[in-house]
Amino acid sequence: MHVVLVGMMASGKSSIGKVLSKTMNIPFLDIDKEIEFHEKRSIKSIFENSGERYFRKLESKIIIENLKEKKSTVIALGGGAFLNAAVRKNVNEKSISVWLDVNIESIITRVKKNQNRPLVEKKSDEEIKKIYEKRLKYYEMSKIHIDCNKKTKTECAEEIIFKLKNTGINENN
Ligand code: S3P
Repeated sequence: MHVVLVGMMASGKSSIGKVLSKTMNIPFLDIDKEIEFHEKRSIKSIFENSGERYFRKLESKIIIENLKEKKSTVIALGGGAFLNAAVRKNVNEKSISVWLDVNIESIITRVKKNQNRPLVEKKSDEEIKKIYEKRLKYYEMSKIHIDCNKKTKTECAEEIIFKLKNTGINENN
């Protein structure tokens, strides 16, 4: 069974995902990286030159394709991917979804340090907060919720493993 990490941009999906995959001894896949590899250009360039609609179509296609892989994998989704109903359906059928919940103040601080997030590039704090509030109801549809506030990535990964065990999932499923 795959483990799919869901949550706002900069919530730690990639960094916690890498720790998790090492600890569980299964591969790690970052969907944003897969998209960039497929397109041979950055996410920023895709947004700027082909638009968000194009990006979202490609994003859902690549996620659904990768979920078909038999070998259990830790998969980090992009922050907007779980809003798509087809993505949610496939994720729920083929994986355990885990929401990395980080408060919006920390998210805003973190996204401002990184220039590679076109969706929030020119947005005010208030606008970023609105995006987060709109998304919450989708993130809440994840099977496992992890409060990642004030925790290290190792602590978050350990909590995920603990909760996966409680749902009867382990590395051999
Ligand atoms: C997005 C998040 C990004 C990337 C794209 C759009 C979003 O991924 O997919 O810039 O809509 O939240 P991260 O969540 O890995 O930053």
